[in-house]
Amino acid sequence: MPTITLTAGPIARARNGVIGRDGTLPWRLKTDLANFRAVTMGKPVIMGRKTWDSLPKKPLVGRTNIVLSRDGSFEPAGCVVCEDFTEAVAIAREQAEEDGAREVCVIGGASLFALALAKAGRIYLTEIDAEIDGDVTLAPIDEGRWTEVSAKAYPAGDGDDYPFTVRVLERR
Ligand SMILES: NC(=O)c1ccc[n+]([C@@H]2O[C@H](COP(=O)([O-])OP(=O)(O)OC[C@H]3O[C@@H](n4cnc5c(N)ncnc54)[C@H](OP(=O)(O)O)[C@@H]3O)[C@@H](O)[C@H]2O)c1
Repeated sequence: MPTITLTAGPIARARNGVIGRDGTLPWRLKTDLANFRAVTMGKPVIMGRKTWDSLPKKPLVGRTNIVLSRDGSFEPAGCVVCEDFTEAVAIAREQAEEDGAREVCVIGGASLFALALAKAGRIYLTEIDAEIDGDVTLAPIDEGRWTEVSAKAYPAGDGDDYPFTVRVLERR
């Protein structure tokens, strides 16, 4: 049976660790959104309730959307709601197996990334080349535990506020 890898991300973070502001992304990076779509397409994605709320179009099409919430009355259409991260990962893995997907992606926010980073085999990390104000930050990643397997720098293209680098890290 092929291995299904749990991934932290795609995560996009500014140089100062910021990943969000006022319930949304504090930048416009069209090229990175295309990258997010390409990486996650066809795979189950796990997210926190606030990240679900932040999506302009819900659910993310072509992907099983699994949303973590402790609110028993939260039952939006188009997603599977879970109260527990381990259970969410188990459901996502079953779905990935059914769909022939090789990864399950944890797509935020901060506490979900922290839970995922403890267990993930791979990180998709977009490093934005700017310090940006925000109210949600990613805890620092211990790079000593990870090996960079690819890194591609992008200039700020049409629809991008900043230049950025897309990195892929694998657990040592
Ligand atoms: N830059 C990026 O890569 C990126 C990615 C994703 C999101 N974001 C940004 O980050 C912000 C949202 O992130 P956030 O960290 O504030 O919130 P979040 O992680 O998206 O959602 C938090 C909510 O998820 C639920 N939750 C979290 N941990 C749980 C657990 N262990 N068990 C059960 N439920 C759990 C709770 O929902 P209830 O309150 O319903 O119980 C909690 O209030 C937004 O600004 C968004 O745009 C950025």
